[in-house]
Amino acid sequence: MTRILSGMQPTNQLHLGNYLGALKNWVALQDVGENLFCVVDLHAITLPQDPAVLAQSTREIAAAYIAAGIDTAKSIIFAQSHVSAHAELAWILGCMTPMGWLNRMTQFKEKAGKDRESAPLGLYGYPVLMAADILTYKATHVPVGEDQKQHLELARDIAGAFNRRYDVEFFPLPEPQILGEATRVMSLRDGTRKMSKSDLSDMSRINMTDTPELIAQKIRKAKTDPAPLPSNPEELEGRPEADNLLTLYAALSDTTKRAAIARFAGTQFSLLKAELTEAAVETLGPIAARMNALMADTAALDAILRDGADKANAIAQPILAEAKQLVGFLPR
Ligand code: TYM
Repeated sequence: MTRILSGMQPTNQLHLGNYLGALKNWVALQDVGENLFCVVDLHAITLPQDPAVLAQSTREIAAAYIAAGIDTAKSIIFAQSHVSAHAELAWILGCMTPMGWLNRMTQFKEKAGKDRESAPLGLYGYPVLMAADILTYKATHVPVGEDQKQHLELARDIAGAFNRRYDVEFFPLPEPQILGEATRVMSLRDGTRKMSKSDLSDMSRINMTDTPELIAQKIRKAKTDPAPLPSNPEELEGRPEADNLLTLYAALSDTTKRAAIARFAGTQFSLLKAELTEAAVETLGPIAARMNALMADTAALDAILRDGADKANAIAQPILAEAKQLVGFLPR
């Protein structure tokens, strides 16, 4: 049986990387088995958040899921904090995760920065909570962007550690699904850095709700290099901006990068930029319109999240109860 789980943090706005690296694939995968898509608000507070903004962002992410094509008749959409099993299982799993494993996590190193002594415990334990998100449902597949690969390898290790400790085959080892042409979308200002919600420059990313004018402006100003576009993939070596723009074009036009390279071979960036703008506006425009309509009725969104939480709890609770029994906790 296939059970898919994935999530996004309600911090800042979603961008094209989140869409192409994750959300678009979720939509395509949702006909296969059972699907759970959560808004990971517990993860968001590993860094300080304004409470009112966090609440609104949680709704906004749920709206983005639906606007992009997640169908509540096929998939469960919910807020992580509405299912207490995530936090409970995270504690249990944290008790069998060596600190050495967490010390290797590159995202912690990036987010903690130089002053590691001041980093909160929650930020350090972030990947353990992520493992709990997945294992609470015994999810088999986890569609994510390339940057989450290390966390998913850790989730597999943690599942194995639990199974070995209690000598059971309880948790399946979840498979990462890193799919499509744009598994790692790069900044528009620097092709060697990841497109990120936390980049100080808004010009570095295309947000899912940017207007067509803003999308056009950001792509027009995107960094390039002086040479015409190459005619084969090998020549993209050392040209990260050209590589990124061609990748984006391929992903947004539902073609391959190879075909995109052939299409623009020998031309100037201006043609690619014009066609990329068109593709981005065509894809994101309708999603942004649906998102805005959904955000206009927060009561309806909250009802969707409540219903999703009920369904998610119904799957998670029996699994958590069994895990607790294996650990040796007395039944209530
Ligand atoms: P988050 O909120 O940073 O990102 C959400 C999803 O978007 C993908 N992504 C990208 N893909 C391609 N290019 C980019 N530049 C780019 N930036 C982000 C991410 O890989 C992710 O799939 N820890 C996770 C959230 C999480 C989770 C989980 C995911 C919590 N629990 C359980 C899967 C399963 C995160 O911070 O994603």
